[in-house]
Amino acid sequence: VLSQEDKSHVKAIWGKVAGHLEEYGAEALERMFCAYPQTKIYFPHFDMSHNSAQIRGHGKKVFAALHDAVNHIDDLAGALCRLSDLHAHNLRVDPVNFKFLSQCILVVFGVHHPCSLTPEVHASLDKFLCAVSAVLTSKYR
Ligand code: HEM
Repeated sequence: VLSQEDKSHVKAIWGKVAGHLEEYGAEALERMFCAYPQTKIYFPHFDMSHNSAQIRGHGKKVFAALHDAVNHIDDLAGALCRLSDLHAHNLRVDPVNFKFLSQCILVVFGVHHPCSLTPEVHASLDKFLCAVSAVLTSKYR
C-alpha cells in the first residue's frame, strides 16, 4: 500500500518527467529490449533500431499512461482499467516482464535525475510501479 509519503515522493519526481514522456519512455523501452531481449517477443512488428519511430511512439504511450496513473494515484485500478483488460486479455504479457520494465524505468530516473532519486524516493517509486503492475496483471484469471 502506498503511504501518503510514497505518493508525495512519486508526484515530486514525476513532475520532472512530465516534459519528457517520449524521450524517457523510449529510453526505458530500449533498455528493456536490450537488457531483457525475451521481452521483444511481444513486439515482433516493431522496428528495434535505436530511437525508431515505433519505440518513441510506444514509449510515449506507456509514459502517458503512467502520467495518468500518477494523477489518479488514489484510484489506480480505475485509472488503469482499460489497460488492464488489454494486457491480460489481448496481449497476454507474462507478468514477469512488468518487473523488467519497472526496473528499466527506475534506471531512466536515476540516469536523468540522480539527485532526486534518493533511496526513499527510489523505494516509493518502486512501490508505485509494483502497484501499477499489479493492476495491469490482475485480470489474468
Ligand atoms: C500496449 C502501457 C507494460 C506489452 C500498451 C499501451 C499502453 C501500455 C498505454 C497502448 C494501449 C493502446 O494503444 O490503447 C503499459 C504500462 C506498462 C506496460 C503502463 C507497465 C508499466 C508492458 C509490458 C509489456 C507490454 C511489460 C511486454 C513486455 C505491450 C504490447 C502492447 C502494449 C505488446 C501493444 C503494442 C502495439 O502493438 O502497439 N501498453 N504497458 N506492456 N503493451 Fe504495455
